[in-house]
Amino acid sequence: MTLAYRDNTAAHTTAEGSLTERLRTRSVRVSVVGQGYVGLPLAVELGRVGFSISGLDTSPDRIAALNAGHSHTPDVDGHELAALREADRYTATADFATLSHSDVVIICVPTPLRKSKDPDISYVLAAATETAAHFRPGQLVILESTTYPGTTEELLLPLFEARGAVVGENFFLAFSPERIDPGNRNFRLRDIPKVVGGVTPACSRLAALLYRQIVDKVVEVSSPKVAELAKLYENVFRNVNIALANEFALMCRRLDVNSREVIEAAATKPFGFLPFYPGPGIGGHCIPIDPGYLAWKMRLNGYEARFIHLADDINRAMPVYVVSLVTEELNKRRRAINGARILVLGVAYKRGIGDTRESPALEVLADLRRKGAEISYADPYVPSLVIDGTVFEAIELTDARLTTADCVLILTDHPEFDYRRVVARASLVVDTRNATWGIPSPAGRVVVL
Ligand SMILES: NC(=O)c1ccc[n+]([C@@H]2O[C@H](COP(=O)([O-])OP(=O)(O)OC[C@H]3O[C@@H](n4cnc5c(N)ncnc54)[C@H](O)[C@@H]3O)[C@@H](O)[C@H]2O)c1
Repeated sequence: MTLAYRDNTAAHTTAEGSLTERLRTRSVRVSVVGQGYVGLPLAVELGRVGFSISGLDTSPDRIAALNAGHSHTPDVDGHELAALREADRYTATADFATLSHSDVVIICVPTPLRKSKDPDISYVLAAATETAAHFRPGQLVILESTTYPGTTEELLLPLFEARGAVVGENFFLAFSPERIDPGNRNFRLRDIPKVVGGVTPACSRLAALLYRQIVDKVVEVSSPKVAELAKLYENVFRNVNIALANEFALMCRRLDVNSREVIEAAATKPFGFLPFYPGPGIGGHCIPIDPGYLAWKMRLNGYEARFIHLADDINRAMPVYVVSLVTEELNKRRRAINGARILVLGVAYKRGIGDTRESPALEVLADLRRKGAEISYADPYVPSLVIDGTVFEAIELTDARLTTADCVLILTDHPEFDYRRVVARASLVVDTRNATWGIPSPAGRVVVL
């Protein structure tokens, strides 16, 4: 017993000690699995500080683009990517055998919901299975994908243990949620504290040491489950508060008050209030999806997550409400939705980026089209869009187009749009983002959510 304990301690000290030393000198080889909105900025940040990075992905097109120095996210500059390639510090590849030469593997693959709203963990499972298949003693594996509490220890750990890994001794496993907000210039990867939860204290120490090289603050928590839940709580908080803002906007409309004015007034309170704003619904790969991971896990534990369900109901009803608002306003002008020319401004799920995943615009446009509207859209970030199998190309926003539209519908408040010009030219503006806030307009021309 005593001997085994000593042996384990020695192995532990050796593996952890060796990795610690090599992390400090940045001489470890790191593989980042998944080169999307999350994985690519992480890979580039690690490359920037001197690590040697393999960016693994299953998409041949993405790999080819990245190796040619083309970035798909506003958070990574193509020139920097190309420079890292030239310096031999970054390579995108589909060759998972690379994993067997890696000291650190970070998994950043998608975690969508199935149609049934259950978690689709297949990408994480596939990436972790590949990683485990290439396991070699001394590796540190970190999961960054947002997921249900328990994934790291219940799903990932056994895959590695089956390959002879002994966690905390010859293998280190942690969960560290990614919290970036693509396109946000005020808070970039380095500025956002990184929460880290290792399966053992050694796992936490090593993962924290890695992240300290690229972010200003690392917050160590006691387990992967705490880190998994922290990420979910952040996004549930956001989802619930957006739902509250959306419902509040509906109430304000009934009272003939601009919700934005009320929210801005409330936000002058210097404590105890955080402003959230209404919109046409929620989108992106996080807010509409992540709460579903927690709700699913809780259902397995015999508990219905009521706030999550209510927020989801309210937020998912918003696109339908937007269409009814457009219909109502056209009706006031003796115009049917069938045949109306509707010019949509912005189809991305939020301002300043081209991500249309889960964007409420997709549902709004599809619904308008089904009702017979002639739709067109402008979005400086989204050159084309497929709605119910039909490809739409973004149009240029000209005065003539603004003037001839029966309704200009603002769905995404991109900063590139000239809202004064929109208000001046259009006969009817339905503004779901309050982007025209403060711009004088003739009575009835601008309708806000
Ligand atoms: N997008 C965000 O703003 C954001 C922010 C924080 C956290 N997250 C979370 O990070 C995770 C990744 O999200 P994302 O936005 O980067 O997704 P993404 O769709 O932009 O990128 C995922 C990438 O993984 C690749 N991929 C899929 N399966 C793979 C596999 N088995 N092996 C290797 N590569 C594979 C895809 O080809 C794609 O390039 C998700 O869990 C998401 O919830 C996303």
